[in-house]
Amino acid sequence: MNLAELSDDDLRAHVAAELARTRQRSAELTDSVDDEDLVRQHSPLMSPLVWDLAHVGSQEELWLVRDVGGREAIRPDIDDLYDAFQHARADRPQLPLLGPAEARDYVGTVREKVFDLLERTPLEGRRLVDRAFAFGMIVQHEQQHDETMLATHQLRSGPPALSAEPPPSDVDVLPPEVFVPGGTFTMGTSTEPWALDNERPAHEVHVDDFYLDTTPVTNGQYLAFMDAGGYDDPRWWSEAGWAHRQRADLRAPRFWQRDGDRWSRRRFGHLEPVPEAEPVVHVSFHEAEAYAAWAGKRLPTEQEWEKAARFDPASGRSRRYPWGDDDPRPEHANLGQRHLRPAPAGAYRAGAAPCGARQLIGDVWEWTATDFLPYPGFAAFPYREYSEVFFGPEYKVLRGGSFGTDRAACRGTFRNWDYPIRRQIFAGFRCARTPRAEERR
Ligand SMILES: [Fe+2]
Repeated sequence: MNLAELSDDDLRAHVAAELARTRQRSAELTDSVDDEDLVRQHSPLMSPLVWDLAHVGSQEELWLVRDVGGREAIRPDIDDLYDAFQHARADRPQLPLLGPAEARDYVGTVREKVFDLLERTPLEGRRLVDRAFAFGMIVQHEQQHDETMLATHQLRSGPPALSAEPPPSDVDVLPPEVFVPGGTFTMGTSTEPWALDNERPAHEVHVDDFYLDTTPVTNGQYLAFMDAGGYDDPRWWSEAGWAHRQRADLRAPRFWQRDGDRWSRRRFGHLEPVPEAEPVVHVSFHEAEAYAAWAGKRLPTEQEWEKAARFDPASGRSRRYPWGDDDPRPEHANLGQRHLRPAPAGAYRAGAAPCGARQLIGDVWEWTATDFLPYPGFAAFPYREYSEVFFGPEYKVLRGGSFGTDRAACRGTFRNWDYPIRRQIFAGFRCARTPRAEERR
């Protein structure tokens, strides 16, 4: 959908539908467990689910009710509790948080006011409301917390609370790599109305010839690395990666366990044999980098990843998505928690990029080799804490979204970032390589 071309009425209807659809997902994630479960901290890496829920409401109150709407504060007394910069996740259970019933009431009250002010707010004249940006930012923020809550579900112990259809199993046999010819392409965007500050502005980038894995690395491929002693061979690891591998005693992706001579994994409360055809998930940047070195390859740079995902050599322009400019539909990509696992490698023919790569969007976030840094011409908007305070070498960029990422929070230009040791996120990777001398074209 081209938000830039919608009439104001259609844009308001779109915002209302996106807000409602998103809240339904938040409700599914929080109604599927009991109150005791909602207030419990399932891992020191995560907030209790009830914190995420009220935090979503708190950000919506701050940006939409107070700033955009200019209305009176609803709960100024709780601003501090739900400010992510004030309290580390590990400390959040000790705070005097709203209980489950109070949190649900609160987010409902905020949302009623937002629906009311959506009708009255001009959608131009101020950058924050231009093309309903602040509403889009809040939709994306809630969807991002929904993915975080989904990760909390994966960390909780006990019987399954969520269920979903399996992803499509229809796969094509594909060459292992695709070739992406060198040249300049347009990276980032200056025109996507709901793109966030770190995706802006559009700028020209030159990328040399490279080969990219057609699909994300599968569990079967990753098992070969493990069987070859990859976890015990410092040759494949960076210095920081090896130090972390030793300290954290890494031996397999998170949630895997040995079952005799086989490996099983725990997935949303189910223990099951590791499916070899699926992209590997719950690996850190360090593990991804070690696998790539073992395979004689490397991780793609963020620039390479985006070129493979967006550049259309036929038109010379960059697409919104690998398949074109249309918003994601179920046949394009595994997004939005429609399925609770990645689809096997080689699925989603309709989602292929012009270079032939598959599953760049959806299934698993993909670690890139690149630090999270601003694009040339970056300007923080609407606040420094959205992206700017995270820029630097401590964070690596992830691209493409996972099965737990909603389409509203996933574009060809969308950038995610995390610490290179993180494994609870739905992250995998694919490899790239520079052509060898005899392959130069
Ligand atoms: Fe947040």
